[in-house]
Amino acid sequence: MATDIKALFCIGLAVVLTGVGKSALIGKTHSGGKDDPVLQYVVNNSLREHPVLTKLRLRTLEDPWAIMLVSSDQAQFMANLIKLINGTKAIEIGMYTGYNALSMALAMSENGRVVACEKEEKYVNIAKPFFKENEIVQQTARCTSTFCQYVFTKCCRLESKKVSAQETVSPKDAKQGNALIAGGEAGTFDFVFIDADKTNYDGYYEKSLELIRKGGIIAIDNVLWSGRVVNPAPSDNTSQALDALNKKLHKDQRIDLSMLTVGDGLTIAIKR
Ligand SMILES: C[S@@+](CC[C@H](N)C(=O)[O-])C[C@H]1O[C@@H](n2cnc3c(N)ncnc32)[C@H](O)[C@@H]1O
Repeated sequence: MATDIKALFCIGLAVVLTGVGKSALIGKTHSGGKDDPVLQYVVNNSLREHPVLTKLRLRTLEDPWAIMLVSSDQAQFMANLIKLINGTKAIEIGMYTGYNALSMALAMSENGRVVACEKEEKYVNIAKPFFKENEIVQQTARCTSTFCQYVFTKCCRLESKKVSAQETVSPKDAKQGNALIAGGEAGTFDFVFIDADKTNYDGYYEKSLELIRKGGIIAIDNVLWSGRVVNPAPSDNTSQALDALNKKLHKDQRIDLSMLTVGDGLTIAIKR
């Protein structure tokens, strides 16, 4: 299990046991925000969750790592951003059980396409039946590797290739792939959601900037890391990496920028 995931789980435990980090994690609406009256109000008065997403959320909550699940209100916000820019091509780096990937697919027109990267096959296996349900996404290829890139198109196909997120989008592994850029898709994507291993975020961000068009959006999750980015401990590589990225983006003239206190912190970068 990746160090980042362990750290995330520990933060979840810390919240339960000590209340530390509550301000960041109350932004999680997995359970309908039932522990917080304001969040409950937000959910009651704004969430329009597709029935298949509700089923997938409830199934995901049975998983021991459900703390990783994106907030439903955050997913809905990102789906609305995709609609706003008439997005038809999106990437998700770190799919988990597919809640946000499916939410993005549902926000697109019939020819929409979502490329979702997930390295743990067990999570993809949770996602698959929900993708197939309602024929939102039909699987036409089987993944046989732990490291998979799932390319799925609404009402069309689910392909798999033997590559990890790094091989798909990270400059560190250029020799192994950079599959999308090598495939001539630079500058063609409308939206990227970065939500995988935090210490590699900078690489994912740079490659995402290459992959999206002008006016396209890069959404980056967990940029507040339960508040730890404010004063990262020297030994805390994850908080250090996120803090460095946040500071880099603040100065980055290639983008317009917002950092939102949604969920665990969500950065919205719009390519100039
Ligand atoms: C926070 S979860 C993603 C949540 C998801 N976006 C959602 O909608 O619920 C992070 C996921 O990234 C995956 N991951 C971490 N490093 C990865 C990598 N290098 N390539 C692909 N997936 C990775 C983990 O297995 C985990 O499922």
